[in-house]
Amino acid sequence: MSTPHNSAVMGQIAETVLLPGDPLRAKFIAENFLENVEQFNGVRNMFGFTGTYKGKKVSVMGTGMGCPSIGIYSYELIHMYGVKNLIRVGSCGAYHPDLNLYDIILAIGASTDSNYAYQFELPGIYSATASWDLLSKAKKAADDNNIKTVVGNIVTSDLFYSDNPDNWRKWAKMGCLAVEMETYALYCIANRAGVNALTILTVSDSLVHKTETTPDQREKGFKDMMKIALELA
Ligand code: HPA
Repeated sequence: MSTPHNSAVMGQIAETVLLPGDPLRAKFIAENFLENVEQFNGVRNMFGFTGTYKGKKVSVMGTGMGCPSIGIYSYELIHMYGVKNLIRVGSCGAYHPDLNLYDIILAIGASTDSNYAYQFELPGIYSATASWDLLSKAKKAADDNNIKTVVGNIVTSDLFYSDNPDNWRKWAKMGCLAVEMETYALYCIANRAGVNALTILTVSDSLVHKTETTPDQREKGFKDMMKIALELA
């Protein structure tokens, strides 16, 4: 059965789904890394494709930006389509001076300024963490392929443009490596459902060094991150 946001029917989506924010990056990944590709979604141009990688079935779908958007798509993938492994492949802004453009982060956890976990009515503050199974496999795949990765805590922010643009330094003081806008919701939804999620990020800009990549570089320059993600399929 399809949903208001996804026209796929049960069985069209693999148990493992790669999740870039940008639907055009999903298309790029399908066209450049997968074989036997079939598109399963085009609703709102949030493209989704299923194909094979080294003979294994894997899907890739855009999530859009922010917790509400990835929250919708990941919930449906898990609860309506039976997805078990959700791997976000995204970009982030680095908070740490040792991180440079194109460095790769494996997000062991996400802190947040979002109220996303409010819905769970918890008697405290929820620490949103990755699947150890996916994280340890990703680290091993990276090491085996001589790809340098850093494992650490990140920040999922509701704000790209903040009224307090220097507030990020407070997260940096707490050891948070970088900022993006989706992982906290993804980890909440996956952990609530008892399935696996991991976020892999490539540094697309540095708040410390004030450097950034172009959108074209962002779309095409993330081969190492894709290699790690696809080895998890
Ligand atoms: N802020 C929020 N999200 C991001 C950034 C950023 O600087 N870079 C990539 N995703």
